[in-house]
Amino acid sequence: MALAIFEDRYGGMATHIAFAPGRVNLIGEHTDYSEGLVMPMAIPYGVAVAFRATDGPSRLHSIARGPSKSFSVIEVVPGSRKGWSGYAAGMAWALKDRGHQVKTNIEAVVEANLPIGSGVSSSAALEVAFGLAWKTANGLTLTPLELARLAQHCENKFVGVNCGLMDMAASTLGVAGHALKMDIRSMETEPIPLPPGLVVVLCDTGKSRGLASSHYNLRREEVQRACDGLGVSILREISFDQLEKGKIHLDDVAYRRARHVVTENVRVGSFATALRTENQLEIRRLLNEAHASIRDDFEASCAELDAMAEIANSVSGCWGARMTGGGFGGACVALVTELAVDIFVNTVNEAYVQRFPTMEPRFLICEASDGAEVTQIGT
Ligand code: GLA
Repeated sequence: MALAIFEDRYGGMATHIAFAPGRVNLIGEHTDYSEGLVMPMAIPYGVAVAFRATDGPSRLHSIARGPSKSFSVIEVVPGSRKGWSGYAAGMAWALKDRGHQVKTNIEAVVEANLPIGSGVSSSAALEVAFGLAWKTANGLTLTPLELARLAQHCENKFVGVNCGLMDMAASTLGVAGHALKMDIRSMETEPIPLPPGLVVVLCDTGKSRGLASSHYNLRREEVQRACDGLGVSILREISFDQLEKGKIHLDDVAYRRARHVVTENVRVGSFATALRTENQLEIRRLLNEAHASIRDDFEASCAELDAMAEIANSVSGCWGARMTGGGFGGACVALVTELAVDIFVNTVNEAYVQRFPTMEPRFLICEASDGAEVTQIGT
């Protein structure tokens, strides 16, 4: 559809399509900004941008949101754009701010097929897709990791959300059929094959993540407070034993936030082994522990997410479930035996709606997919 609308709006054909996937995180939540371990996977849903270079100003159109005001890449500065086009223009700014030559404008049509507000990183996908568009139009060379870091720079400094690197890195580095065990400190990335016959189901509670970014920033402050009390710059430097020894320097909230991060890093490592050995019991144990930790110690869950995880866990064929993403609304991730998926979705849907009659849950089957790429049209 993006291509037809492109032709309609701008006359002539787009030269390229960039596609960047969203992500689901299997385990390793709220650890990325402590340089910890995460295990997301890219999903087949994401953002596509049909584009071509132009001598005129940049003109962007979103199929869902309509056109945005035209602008010149030369003039883009933080604070100059709000809404979805801020993510697009912000990527041009991020490239320039990191020393890349961005002078060529683009005409573009954006088409997204991922749910907004479910915690599958629609904003990271939008940034990465536009990163590829600016890169291509301006003849730049960037590795997938550099692109991810630029998208994080855009989100932190242009959009103003203080997120970590996980979402963007999952979008650029995804490997089909695999989850990515990433060490955010070294950026060592290990693709872990998903057991055959196992399906990843995103169970969206329907509770929007409205205040998520203010909660998120507060959690970052609390984690920083824990670091200050422990006398380290980042929680990655702390082992569980060191945390227990340093506990006397922390208030209860800071201690529990740190305990979540420190124990979650260990769980990611164990989870990688459990996936590789297809150890169903261990996978279940770790997902349950991860959910309890983010619920009780990190307090980033909510009643809807807790209910969704509990219901999903109780349905046969489910290997385990936990909340995924930033939290405070959004979705759970469940690992489900392929043959049981239809029954799983129906049963969970029914039980959840019974508890939350005004909510409209959604279920998305997510195959682990490759990372973002740009395709030249007609090749
Ligand atoms: C959001 C952020 C990520 C990460 C997760 C929690 O998705 O964008 O950087 O911190 O929350 O794991």
